[in-house]
Amino acid sequence: MTEGKRYNLRCFECNAHHSLDYQGFNCEKCGGLLEVKFDLTMKTRPWVHRPLSVWRYEELLPVEKYRSVVSLGEGGTGLHYCRRLGKKLGLRKLRIKNEGENPTGSFKDRGMTVAVSRAVELRKKTVICASTGNTGASLAAYSAKAGLNCMVLVPRGKVAPGKMVQVIIHGARVVQVKGNFDQALDSVIRLTKEHKGLYLMNSLNPFRLEGQKTLAYEITDQLAGIAPDFVILPVGNGGNISAAWKGFGEFRELGMTRGTPRMVGIQAEKSAPIVRAIRRREVRLTPLQNPETIATAIRIGSPVNWAKVLRAIRESKGIAESVTDEEILEAQRDLARYEGIFVEPAGAAPVAGITRMIKNGTIDRSDLVVCVATGHGLKDPSIADRIARSSPTFDVEYGVSLSRTVERIS
Ligand code: F0G
Repeated sequence: MTEGKRYNLRCFECNAHHSLDYQGFNCEKCGGLLEVKFDLTMKTRPWVHRPLSVWRYEELLPVEKYRSVVSLGEGGTGLHYCRRLGKKLGLRKLRIKNEGENPTGSFKDRGMTVAVSRAVELRKKTVICASTGNTGASLAAYSAKAGLNCMVLVPRGKVAPGKMVQVIIHGARVVQVKGNFDQALDSVIRLTKEHKGLYLMNSLNPFRLEGQKTLAYEITDQLAGIAPDFVILPVGNGGNISAAWKGFGEFRELGMTRGTPRMVGIQAEKSAPIVRAIRRREVRLTPLQNPETIATAIRIGSPVNWAKVLRAIRESKGIAESVTDEEILEAQRDLARYEGIFVEPAGAAPVAGITRMIKNGTIDRSDLVVCVATGHGLKDPSIADRIARSSPTFDVEYGVSLSRTVERIS
């Protein structure tokens, strides 16, 4: 522990203490998920005058020495007020937290800057993850910056091309698994048990989730301490929604805000084990065998963080909702055309969820709603191609008058 910064590692289920040197990712006693717990009795708030970023909150992040920090300038993303889209959806106070503004184009960078810094402090040489694309892209970039070897297992043929390009250009070793994401993650977990030198970077790693909790800190600070009524996120493995809920809770404990939002998890209709578990009030999650969706980032049937997600949604009096692929594509187009924000399909899922929640009376038109747009649209050009084909462009010879076209669109 460093001076003025006190934290430890605990089991999320049975609260058993684990030494900070503990290298496993499940509780030694009960097998539950692990969590970093900060002592929040600190008297000062030194971050309030620093610029918005992940490392603005350094005192609340589990890195021992500031000089170990591996950063590409993550966080500090916009919380955009969406007047035009809000009007279309019937919401007066809609905001989009655009995580596509992060260095590698997704929220994963918040977690990777902390987890890779931790890997450096542990003197690890090789890091590994399974990924639907964004985790791999982010880990590859931060590993390059830190000089670490990086291995990424992806489901073969199911990763958006923009993300594959990122993983490869940053020099990671890519392994394409003939199976889905859940099977790739299973292989990674087995490998890290067999090879002690490997450091696992999926969201089972509680240090990574500490970086991701800064999403909630930033939203609270950008709203000058006002807690939104709803914060809506897409859910895959469930790391992000649980990290955000932890962040909102810590900021309330620190007195930075009085309330906390209701957390809403959105899944694609055919990849929705969390929605099913919430609806059926299950205490344990039943994995889904063959998840499918156009939003490949969240094509996950067996979310490893399910226990944390169920608690985040239940504790916050939140909701889990599913949306169809068509609704996701419509939301993606709306975000681009009404607000100038281009997101990948998974990042549009929260906006797709709003229409349903207004219809069934869960969200009121006057509620303050924050949607987290998790990844940039250019990562998935196959979807963009499909949209471009449905909205044809025109070819003309140089010199031909375009006056008629101007008149038509004016
Ligand atoms: N949105 C995007 C764009 C993602 O890439 C992911 C997860 C999620 C949402 C869901 O976040 O897993 O914390 O619930 N992508 C992972 C990956 C699985 O490998 O890039 P979660």
